[in-house]
Amino acid sequence: MEKRWWHDSVVYQIYPRSFCDSNGDGIGDIQGIISKLDYIQSLGADVIWLSPVYQSPMDDNGYDISDYQAIAPEFGTMEDMRELLDKAKQRDIRIVMDLVVNHTSDEHPWFVEAKSNPDSEYRDFYIWRDAKEDGSKPNDIDSIFGGSAWQWDEENQQYFFHLFSKRQPDLNWENPTLHQKVFDMMNWWIDQGIGGFRLDVIDLIGKEIDKGITGNGERLHPLLQKMNQATFGDKDLLTVGETWGATPDIAKLYSNPDRDELSMVFQFEHITLTWQDGDKWQPKPLDLVEFKQVLTKWQVELKNDGWNSLFWNNHDLPRVVSKYGCDKEFRVESAKMLATTLHFMKGTPYIFQGEEIGMTNVAFDTIDQYKDIETLNFYKVKTESGVSHDHMLKAIHENGRDNARTPMHWNNSSNAGFTSGQPWIELNPNYQTINVSDALEDKNSIFYHYQQLIALRKAHPVIVYGDFIPLLEDHSQVFAYERKDENEHIVVINNFSKERINVSLPSHLSGKSCTTLITNESTLTAIPETCTLNPYESFALKIEG
Ligand code: GLC
Ligand code: CA
Repeated sequence: MEKRWWHDSVVYQIYPRSFCDSNGDGIGDIQGIISKLDYIQSLGADVIWLSPVYQSPMDDNGYDISDYQAIAPEFGTMEDMRELLDKAKQRDIRIVMDLVVNHTSDEHPWFVEAKSNPDSEYRDFYIWRDAKEDGSKPNDIDSIFGGSAWQWDEENQQYFFHLFSKRQPDLNWENPTLHQKVFDMMNWWIDQGIGGFRLDVIDLIGKEIDKGITGNGERLHPLLQKMNQATFGDKDLLTVGETWGATPDIAKLYSNPDRDELSMVFQFEHITLTWQDGDKWQPKPLDLVEFKQVLTKWQVELKNDGWNSLFWNNHDLPRVVSKYGCDKEFRVESAKMLATTLHFMKGTPYIFQGEEIGMTNVAFDTIDQYKDIETLNFYKVKTESGVSHDHMLKAIHENGRDNARTPMHWNNSSNAGFTSGQPWIELNPNYQTINVSDALEDKNSIFYHYQQLIALRKAHPVIVYGDFIPLLEDHSQVFAYERKDENEHIVVINNFSKERINVSLPSHLSGKSCTTLITNESTLTAIPETCTLNPYESFALKIEG
């Protein structure tokens, strides 16, 4: 496989609204990000994925864009954006922009024009349909945020289509004039010196709604090839698609370099394992054997002709230490264990802001403390259809998107040093004990564990390119695997449970001498036949000789 710079990069995701507020209006902003570049550099991340900072009415916190070539005033100006790109570049950090082109805001001039003037060239940039004869909507496709995907427009006496909120009308990717506009905009950003794109819900752009197709339509891959050719194809950029419906075979279509589509995709199969029947509002416990099977399948199947992204959480998902670890007495141990498990796999790792200090889920008492449109929409839809308030609040505590969106904890002063004003969403009260400033002072903190993991990836090509070999596949508490190439051999062992356990290690390993590359507890110099693991204990061992 031809080597690319993003193969051994580590990406740090910033959700700007919740990262750092420089001017006291309670909303994180670009100057706030600039003030923390040294922090990100000290972690060792070399790419920042910036969630949207474009002009937006913020119905979905910026995933509803009203001008792709302007910055939202609450985040700053285009000058601030240029300064961010410059200052990041001085630190060898690239900025990957979020590209949201499945839909725009209803305040985008294209939509405003399309709605007010049916004869305008922009009319066909969106998806309009007549009502059925009885006045009902064209079909039963639902919005991903709850309710129907069709919104009746009184003015036009037609429905328009929206897979997300009704303020996020879907773009019509069957219109070639639209393609050109989007490609021009992408090229403009490329000319500003960005490091690539994260393509929001990109698997939906090939939709054929009259056939009931939304994700993974036949039109999708030709569209991506066209986009690649017209924009980033001949540039050295990182592109990562958000693709909820991807299987390994589909992921290879996107990420096989011979196909000229994307660098990699975010696959969600491991995430949805804790959703009963694909419904995040019906959480179920993690089955570790199943979890390992899924992650192993992705490691093995994308081995030669594709590339994996590696992530546990992002701005749409609960905090990893709360989800798969223990956010109480074993918070530090389990956060380190989870980090080791992920960062020794093959692929490009992504860290979501606050993950590197073990930030946890939040449990607000009342629904009006929540700000996320998906959470609020579903609360309404589900409680109206008979689901109890208690059930929904519990599900929101477990899987709601605001878990990831409470402000970053910089220190233990008021509002965690996030803002000197009134934060746009309440903080997680545990910032007194979980914050960056304390983490930087403790050499055993989760932060330094992440720093070490990133440094190890840079120092050992086997972590980036070696083979992945699962171990103890049927074990219900331990996630273990080997990484191997012609030069190096690493064994990674992680206890995913709260229990102290004994595990017998495979005979081909026992007795071999080793050095401990990273650990959250013990240091080993030889691989034992039987290994005693404390709760959430985890280490990576390099076999010597
Ligand atoms: C993606 C984003 C999410 C957003 C949605 C609509 O899933 O990650 O935050 O709400 O797309 O743009
Ligand atoms: Ca601000």
